[in-house]
Amino acid sequence: MSTTPGLTPEQLQARLQVALEAAVAAGARLMQRVEGELQIETKSSDADLVTQADREAEDEVVARLRAAFPHDAIVAEESGEVTATEGPCWYVDPLDGTTNFAHRLPHFSVSIGLYERAGGAEAGRALGVEHGLLGVVHDPTRGETFFAARGGGAWLRSPRHPDRRLRVTDTAALARSVLATGFGYDRPRGINVPEFGRLVRRVQGLRRAGSAALDLAYVAAGRLDGYWEHALQPWDQAAGAVLVHEAGGEVQTMHGQPWSLHGPSVCAAGPRLRPVLQAALVDEG
Ligand code: IPD
Ligand code: CA
Ligand code: CA
Repeated sequence: MSTTPGLTPEQLQARLQVALEAAVAAGARLMQRVEGELQIETKSSDADLVTQADREAEDEVVARLRAAFPHDAIVAEESGEVTATEGPCWYVDPLDGTTNFAHRLPHFSVSIGLYERAGGAEAGRALGVEHGLLGVVHDPTRGETFFAARGGGAWLRSPRHPDRRLRVTDTAALARSVLATGFGYDRPRGINVPEFGRLVRRVQGLRRAGSAALDLAYVAAGRLDGYWEHALQPWDQAAGAVLVHEAGGEVQTMHGQPWSLHGPSVCAAGPRLRPVLQAALVDEG
C-alpha cells in the first residue's frame, strides 16, 4: 500500500477495520427498524425525511469512531460536526436513502469516508479526491460491503463469495451505458431535470435508485457505467468517491472541474466514458 499523508499504513488499516465494523453494526440497526413502526419527520422540505433509525445508526457509528480514534474529527449528517481537529476527518451518512427506507423500499446504505485535512478545517473545504483516505459503503439488505483504502484498491465483501476486487467498466459509448443520477430535495427549481431529459434519450438505461453512496459504489463495481448528481452533501459522496478512484474510475464535477466534497456536482465514470458523459450533460443543443 502506498504512503498516506499524515497516517501510517497501519493507522489507515486500523481505521478501515473500525469503519467496516461500524458500518455493519449500523446496518444491523437499520434492518431491525425497517420492518417496525417508523417515526418519520421532515427536515428542509416535505421530501427531506429523517427517522429514528437515521439517528440510532449515526449514534452507533459515531460512538465506535470516537472510542477508537478520539482525536479524529467527525462530520455526521444528523448531528453536525462533532469535533474538529487538524487530523483526518470522518464523513458519516448513517442512512443514505432515507426516502427508500421510510417507504420500506430495500435499497439504502451506511456510508463512512475518511479524508485528510492537512491544512485545517478551511483548507479541508477544498480537498479533492486525491486526499480521500478510505471509504466504506454497506448495504444491509444484500449484506454487501464496498470498501477501499487509499492505494489498496476497491473491494466488495459479500456473504456469497470471497472478497472481490472492483473495477470500473471500460465502455466509452453512452448508447451501451447504464447510468444513475439523483435529485436533491429542492424540487421546485427542477434541478437536474434538463440533464435527465437529455441523457435518457441517449443511454441504454438511466436509474434513480435513491442512494448516492450506493450509486458511486456501483460505478466502482462496474454495475453502473457512470453517475452524476448536483449539490450533494459531503457525507453523501465521501466514501463513494474513494471507491470509484480506487477502482480505476474518475471523479470530477459535471463541468470537468476538480471534484471536492463541497463542490457543486459530481460526475463519476470509467476513464473512457467520463469525458463523453460530461460533454452530454452540458450539451444544450
Ligand atoms: C440522498 C440520497 C439520494 C440523493 C440525495 C441525497 P439521504 O441522501 O443519497 O440518492 O439523490 O441527493 O440527499 O437524504 O437519503 O441521506
Ligand atoms: Ca445521503
Ligand atoms: Ca442520510
